[in-house]
Amino acid sequence: MQADIVVLPGDGIGPEVTAAAIAVLNTVGARYGHRFRFEQHLIGGAAIDATGTPLPAETLEAARSADAVLLGAVGGPKWSDPNAKVRPEQGLLAIRKALGLYANLRPVKPHAAALGASPIKPHLLQGVDIMVVRELTGGIYFGRKQRNGDSASDLCEYNADEIRRVVRRAASLARSRSGRLTSVDKANVLETSRLWRDVTTQVVRDEFPDVALEHQLVDSMAMHLIAKPRAYDVIVTENMFGDILTDEASMLAGSLGLLPSASLGEGTVGIYEPIHGSAPDIAGQGIANPYATILSAAMLLRHSLGLDAEAQCVELAVSNALDAGVLTADLADGRPSVGTRAATDAVIAQLQLPCQVMELRD
Ligand code: NAD
Ligand code: IPM
Ligand code: MN
Repeated sequence: MQADIVVLPGDGIGPEVTAAAIAVLNTVGARYGHRFRFEQHLIGGAAIDATGTPLPAETLEAARSADAVLLGAVGGPKWSDPNAKVRPEQGLLAIRKALGLYANLRPVKPHAAALGASPIKPHLLQGVDIMVVRELTGGIYFGRKQRNGDSASDLCEYNADEIRRVVRRAASLARSRSGRLTSVDKANVLETSRLWRDVTTQVVRDEFPDVALEHQLVDSMAMHLIAKPRAYDVIVTENMFGDILTDEASMLAGSLGLLPSASLGEGTVGIYEPIHGSAPDIAGQGIANPYATILSAAMLLRHSLGLDAEAQCVELAVSNALDAGVLTADLADGRPSVGTRAATDAVIAQLQLPCQVMELRD
């Protein structure tokens, strides 16, 4: 197949990790007979520096007409003046909203080789396989923001349609997995959460009677996620709770540098990005972990291009590289470590080997 992929490297380690994912996609293309065309555009701080705005019109235009978007990360100390009128993060929020990407899938599946990097006891992590579905285009992120002298406010708003569509996506994922869905809210305090709970209950009762739904308050969820991660399969939650819980969940996997994501809407175009940020503390050193972005590229193959076997081969290649002990510094835990390029090369080398998944398809 032929596909046009817009790449938005962004800031900090963004260019380093997207370059790794492009190299992997090029290998997949050469090996399995696909032609991926990459077009790079500006977003975030890099876009502010070049054009004055974090999401230039031509970037959005290119993303709209692409088959998929691969994104690095935005932000950094250079643009983090609290009084700044334009901020890199606005570009990211604006492109998610403009493309209607309301469902953000964040899989968390600890790998044996990375268990040492996790602060959690290894026996708690065995068999953990969680899919967090984070609502991405509503809630407090997008409500009216005001600052009047010494007081400030951020409005948190949801309507039933916004909740219904993301819950449907999560429930159908649950149906294709273990049939268990956990909805996370703060219904003991927030009105938006009470609506969230009502709508979720209704959608699952009426449309997914085969899915077992439980509700969990976000504060205790933060605790249970660490104490008994195996108890969860698909988790659905609002925008800010999902943001926070998934950085927490990255400690189940051992590092932020391992968690990919897919942001999806009604069509097939999606944004694929690691859940981590621009990591200014390690940017430019060639030591960033590229696996999260490579795994995001796998999600791109699966969700936007319909190449599920190729996606599985990329996931397997990363898993094999980890098994072979190819660990970046964030994963090493005292063991020898390699840089971004060597980790990427290890995945590429694994991709040259036969991939059983692909043979099954043939
Ligand atoms: P961060 O995720 O950038 O970094 C947190 C810690 O994790 C740092 O110590 C960093 O070195 C480490 N880390 C992150 N990714 C890594 C990788 N691939 N390999 C190895 N180590 C990695 O979070 P932060 O420091 O709070 O934020 C920095 C900037 O990134 C801020 O401007 C923030 O707004 C932005 N940010 C952007 C995105 C995004 O673009 N999607 C996501 C989160 C944060
Ligand atoms: C993420 C990031 C973003 C978010 C920021 C940079 C706006 O933390 O993708 O998780 O909060 O959604
Ligand atoms: Mn985040």
